[in-house]
Amino acid sequence: MASFFRRSIASKLSRILGQSEEVFIGALSAVPVSKKHLSPDFRLSVSTLIKNGVISPKGDIQSQTEALAKELEQDSVVEEISAGRGVINFKLSRKVLVEKILQQLGERDFRFGAKSELFASLEKGTTLVEFSSPNIAKKFHAGHLRSTMIGNFIANLKASLGNDVIRVNYLGDWGMQFGMLGVGYQRFGCQEQLKKNPLQHLFDVYVQVNREAETCDDISQAARTFFRQLEKHEHPALSLWQQFREITVEEYQKVYKRLGVQFDVYSGESFHQEQAREVVQQLQTQGLLKTTERGTNVVDLSPSGDMSRYATVLRSDGTSLYITRDIAAAINRKENYHFDEMIYVTDKSQETHFQQLFQILSTMGHPWAERCRHVGFGLIQGMKTRRGEVVFLEDVLDEARSRMLKNMSLSKTTKQLDDPENTAEKVGISALIVQDFKGPLTSDYTFDWDRMLQAHGDTGVFLQYTHARLCSLIQRYGDGAGGACDPSLLLEPRSIAVFQHLLRYDEVLYQASQDLQPKHVVNFLLTLCHLAGSAHRELQVGERTQNVAQARLRLFIGICSVLASGMRVLGMTPVKKM
Ligand code: ARG
Repeated sequence: MASFFRRSIASKLSRILGQSEEVFIGALSAVPVSKKHLSPDFRLSVSTLIKNGVISPKGDIQSQTEALAKELEQDSVVEEISAGRGVINFKLSRKVLVEKILQQLGERDFRFGAKSELFASLEKGTTLVEFSSPNIAKKFHAGHLRSTMIGNFIANLKASLGNDVIRVNYLGDWGMQFGMLGVGYQRFGCQEQLKKNPLQHLFDVYVQVNREAETCDDISQAARTFFRQLEKHEHPALSLWQQFREITVEEYQKVYKRLGVQFDVYSGESFHQEQAREVVQQLQTQGLLKTTERGTNVVDLSPSGDMSRYATVLRSDGTSLYITRDIAAAINRKENYHFDEMIYVTDKSQETHFQQLFQILSTMGHPWAERCRHVGFGLIQGMKTRRGEVVFLEDVLDEARSRMLKNMSLSKTTKQLDDPENTAEKVGISALIVQDFKGPLTSDYTFDWDRMLQAHGDTGVFLQYTHARLCSLIQRYGDGAGGACDPSLLLEPRSIAVFQHLLRYDEVLYQASQDLQPKHVVNFLLTLCHLAGSAHRELQVGERTQNVAQARLRLFIGICSVLASGMRVLGMTPVKKM
């Protein structure tokens, strides 16, 4: 596949230009399939090679490009080599293209794309991804949903590329809000309600106590007392808090399960209060702590030491802050999980927080701070359900399911489904994911139920629909995966376009692994589905000679498995019928 072809072309280049093949493997790019003209398969930018110092400039770029193209020899794999504007184009033998890709697609350990030599230079190791991280008793807002979907994608991607992945949910389970919640619960709480509908009840109590606090000073006073008791681990404050936390985690787990998301660790801010104290101690010993006039303790982050930029790590009353607990948590994770890289996924408003965190860790002498990364994302506007503004993640999933079910009920195949609700749920979630992943993560977007659930737009529904159609085709004509297949029966433009497109998959995964943006994978799969649709229309399987049917079936089986594995990386569960 791509990797085999890259290597063939790279070896030609290396023979003439005298560098190692590896240098050229990464410099080659598979050309996107275009409807208008017959495109070459791979392209090499000569100007990039010169810019990167791989080859030295000789005269003007164009004549150098042409001279190099002339020197390269064609063979049975690379059939045409020509010079374009500053680039060299390579066209592969159609037969070899088909043969090699089919061979890869049929391999037992299906890792199409992920096995490429493009990944040879990347270090594999342990990746810790921290994502979702909602706050107990507060609203699970759209940002938490985004973090959940994006973090899950990053974790899946890293795992598919052979890394060990640890998925951490860092709950907002500590802080002054628990003072409020504790006091609120003591006043308006109800054990029965808490059992019956925990998230709703805790949220209601929290809202109510905050409202009362606006007019009643006692409450704020009582909340401070409650939180102080909690910090000292006194009962009943501690046991009440424990109960809130446990119930909330149980509830969240149910929703994560629906989303197909799992965590290895449910940690949270509460785990690190002791360590936060030690961190402050250590900052003190290292001479990094300064006391302000207001009595707070801060770390100076300005380049010239004039306190023009600083982070507060201790309040004047001696309690720790969000960032203090994050410093402690990071150090603790390094000790426990020995990660090689750590990725935090939150909305972009926390960008500065994470910059400060990484800077402090690095100043404290932790070189691995350089391998920590924050992936920020934009706002979702207008996420509403029939019940109004979204408070709970569950409501979004329920609504996606019911809307999808309604759309599906218009189609005849839905009637034959064993569990239409379950299918609607999976398709609905895919719709949420594609809507979220289509653009750059830092962009804001407007939530739109109708648009994201369209069956024929660039949506998750379209991906699922294509997958289901391919599955039914394969089921109908039997899976000929084992049979021999003659590549010369797959040389029509429609199938060649698919193979050309598949050449890009390793590059797409590589790009995503670098910038951690899911849009590369989404767009690749959407195009794959469009190409699959045209191939499906033109290349019939039924009523053809057995050899032709067999070959076409192999093509569709291949598309179906790449589509399914790509969808899984994005966090979707492909459905076989819908
Ligand atoms: N609970 C936080 C919030 O909802 C997000 C936590 C992000 N992770 C971290 N290590 N600070 O805003």
